[in-house]
Amino acid sequence: MYSMPVKYAAVLLGVAALVPGGTGVARPANETLDPETKVRVERFEKGPATIDVSKYPEALKDNYELFSQKCMQCHRLSRPINCDYALPAEWERYIKRMMHKPGSGIGTGDAKKIFDFLVYDSSIRKKALVDEKLATATPEEKKAAEDKIKEIRDKYAKP
Ligand code: HEC
Repeated sequence: MYSMPVKYAAVLLGVAALVPGGTGVARPANETLDPETKVRVERFEKGPATIDVSKYPEALKDNYELFSQKCMQCHRLSRPINCDYALPAEWERYIKRMMHKPGSGIGTGDAKKIFDFLVYDSSIRKKALVDEKLATATPEEKKAAEDKIKEIRDKYAKP
């Protein structure tokens, strides 16, 4: 089991106290998922829970720390690490979805840094998946994705 950070546990306890007859605190992420989502996220969570960032640019190592801190408050970090999402547009969609969940504590600045990290990381660690997705994307989607990946790789490249 993962351990829930104190801050998030406190938020949940506060909510539970407001629910009449509410007893015990359930793990926030999985219990209410529809069956299809549950199967999918359990598959994602089976893989490793850390990324070897030793060869990544320094600034992206910091972004990895932020990602690790923010994105395992409600579920295992293995969920985003091993999921099938890899393109910039997919990360944008999922990071927005996560930051808007109650109590996420993920601001716009954090979201941008996490986005840069996940796009860069996917372009290295999930390169085969990125290529596979781009092979079936529309020309516009392909160009937008390639431009964004290049922009982020240039931004963090060592001078
Ligand atoms: C406030 C709680 C919370 C935080 C913080 C959070 N998540 Fe989630 N996450 C969830 C829940 C709940 C689900 C279940 C499915 C859904 O709602 O999308 C989920 C599901 C996911 C999924 C699987 C989505 C799917 O349907 O296939 C990914 C990937 C993911 N989260 C990534 C992240 C990333 C990246 C971050 C950090 C930016 C993050 N999560 C932070 C609550 C959270």
